Amino acid sequence: MSELDDSIYRSLDDALSGVYECHKCILGDTRTNVVPGAGNPRAKVMFIGEAPGKNEDLQGKPFVGAAGNLLSQLLERIGLKREDIYIANILKCRPPRNRDPRPEEIEACTPWLREQIKAVHPTVLVTMGNFSTKFVLQTTTGITRLRGQVRTTGPFRVIPTFHPAAAIYDRSKISALEADFDLIRALLDADERREHENM
Ligand code: URA
Repeated sequence: MSELDDSIYRSLDDALSGVYECHKCILGDTRTNVVPGAGNPRAKVMFIGEAPGKNEDLQGKPFVGAAGNLLSQLLERIGLKREDIYIANILKCRPPRNRDPRPEEIEACTPWLREQIKAVHPTVLVTMGNFSTKFVLQTTTGITRLRGQVRTTGPFRVIPTFHPAAAIYDRSKISALEADFDLIRALLDADERREHENM
């Protein structure tokens, strides 16, 4: 994670220059659109998912399908809008039939994510699901054990949570997701209070 610690300012456009022509892995052959990310380039919170699905591949935007609807509801619960945050994925192109990302695809694609993190320089990373959590925290521990607590890596506070798609198939995960989003709110409130005290 040490490369992520270096938050030298770059613009997002610079960070993503070349992404739309990327063919560093075989997913470049089957995608309809590259899905780099979306949202506020100055966001304090960056959400990181897994990979585009069918709708995202068709529209070129992250989290626009069913999982995206649930994500929007969870954000609304804590008073955030899509425009307040930045959303990216581990992979920028859809794996065929939504299969899991392969190690060589993660290796080829995550330099884009590192550059996005440097450009946006958020203070909080919310990792949704196993793939983003394992990448950001450089761990092999599963999301069920890691979620629900704030972790740190370099300058970032990390809140690992379930992937919203997992809660669509298993509704019992909704309450955990809600608790994790409440934790995001609590962290942001504490940051704001600290900023006011220091003014
Ligand atoms: N699932 C993800 O991980 N990312 C998306 O953009 C959509 C669904």
